[in-house]
Amino acid sequence: MPHRSREGRGTRSLAVFPGSFDPITNGHLDIIGRGLSVFDQVTIAILVNPEKHPLFTVEERVAIIRETFRGEGRVQVDTFSGLLVDYAERVGASVIVRGLRAISDFEFEFQMALMNRKLNPRIETVFMMPAESYSYLSSRLVKEVFQLGGRVRDLVPPVVERRLREKYGDCAPPKPPPRGRRAPRGRRA
Ligand code: PNS
Repeated sequence: MPHRSREGRGTRSLAVFPGSFDPITNGHLDIIGRGLSVFDQVTIAILVNPEKHPLFTVEERVAIIRETFRGEGRVQVDTFSGLLVDYAERVGASVIVRGLRAISDFEFEFQMALMNRKLNPRIETVFMMPAESYSYLSSRLVKEVFQLGGRVRDLVPPVVERRLREKYGDCAPPKPPPRGRRAPRGRRA
């Protein structure tokens, strides 16, 4: 049954926000928030890719995202394999949302958007820019920083930090060298 939109105009607009989300970051949350300001519903679609070796299993990523958006009825989480446009068509979404952090993202995203349009011209890709404060943020860097003892509190939702701790244990930051002992000149790493 078609749902009425937020403004009472026609059917509800549904956007798919696809990705690996290994793990979801505050940058993703920013894009989802922006998506919700334009579309009635956003479905976070996790790609099931047996060739990748993610840190979190698909089930863990689904659980993390569910916990992050508990109580937010306009955000769903789902998984997909195969072509993204086929998945979008199947769930009745006419829009794919992708985040663009920097020019460096553009080439790959542009290529993917055009390929998706070639495969299914009925599905439109919409790019959204996160807040500048997230322009450097990526799932890969979050994992690396955490593993090396860095602080990720402002970069991911609390459930992700907790799950990272469960995976890696508490990654204590490396101890600084004893006071007074300086690395020999010219050999600073
Ligand atoms: O978070 P990511 O890894 O940047 O997300 C990439 C993703 C999942 C959006 C992309 O790999 C994808 O859509 N894969 C599905 C396969 C597909 O449809 N390929 C053809 C279009 S380029």
